[in-house]
Amino acid sequence: MTRVLRLTDERDFLAMLDVERELVRRAPQRWHYHPCGLVYNRYLFGDGADDVFEYGRVIETRQGVVGYAQLEADDGLFMFRVLPHSGVRLGGVIARITRELSGKIVAEVTESDTRQSAALRRQGFRELGTSRICLVCNLAGHVDRDIGETDIRAVTDDDAERVAAIGVGTDARNTALYRAFMRSPYYNAVDLVARVDGDVAAHVMFLTDDETRTALLEFVVCEERYRRRGVTKALISQGLSQLKQRGFEYVCVSTGFSNAAAIGLYKSVGFAQSDRVIQYSIQKSSGVTIHENDVSVVRRA
Ligand SMILES: CC(C)(COP(=O)(O)OP(=O)(O)OC[C@H]1O[C@@H](n2cnc3c(N)ncnc32)[C@H](O)[C@@H]1OP(=O)(O)O)[C@@H](O)C(=O)NCCC(=O)NCCS
Repeated sequence: MTRVLRLTDERDFLAMLDVERELVRRAPQRWHYHPCGLVYNRYLFGDGADDVFEYGRVIETRQGVVGYAQLEADDGLFMFRVLPHSGVRLGGVIARITRELSGKIVAEVTESDTRQSAALRRQGFRELGTSRICLVCNLAGHVDRDIGETDIRAVTDDDAERVAAIGVGTDARNTALYRAFMRSPYYNAVDLVARVDGDVAAHVMFLTDDETRTALLEFVVCEERYRRRGVTKALISQGLSQLKQRGFEYVCVSTGFSNAAAIGLYKSVGFAQSDRVIQYSIQKSSGVTIHENDVSVVRRA
């Protein structure tokens, strides 16, 4: 029996994190959505931390929670992750999720997850192409770099407004989201800003997961007038050094397929491409073809 359920309380969110953590443990050298990616989505997108009870789902069998999904009904977008060998029929999960969506439905999956891509194709989804490039840095190979005169400091509450402004635009809502995240129990991060002439010029945040000794790099931005001076490269190098000193092993990051500046930046500090996020789509009105075996899983639920 497989069930796809809305989150009922905080324990369900923690179960989502545990699934992602287990996937990271099995192959830390490969890019993952990462437990911290779920935290990032929860606090820094949408209208606030409680949104997760709308868009989050846990995938449960008799063994307990073996997977999770995130679906954005307004955009018809979804992704899901299931532990290997959990006995879940992926087609059944896809059929169950697509029941809640309409119009053009888009699924995101990492290229290395060949089972999920195959299941989507069996359900009639067609590949749209690559949406994101995923990179990983093995900290064993990281060497401290000379960051010259760059003024690098940990973010403080006073920086929140400026950090939100250079990252996502001056909007009180974004500052509020960022502040709420800083005050949440999930704010475990190496969160750094670089100043030029006293002004916050660039910001990077490494969200850290102590259990897997891995981190997710997010929020990488340099204000336009300070670009191409090596400021962000120095910031990321400094963050990687701090993580290595603290015993972390891998850092992952992803960026838009065509973001040459970010891809160049990450490669210049030791990240290597490890995966891609591929989008698949289906038009709901054309009918989602569902395999008999897969449906039975959903019916028994
Ligand atoms: C990506 C970004 C953070 C780079 O910041 P930056 O401070 O200008 O980067 P640096 O000066 O430290 O550049 C370091 C290296 O990155 C690469 N790089 C940076 N900008 C580049 C560009 N426009 N094109 C190609 N390579 C670039 C180069 O290898 C560069 O080294 P070099 O200058 O010696 O050639 C900045 O362009 C930015 O804020 N972009 C918008 C936000 C964004 O896309 N963030 C990433 C989201 S995942």
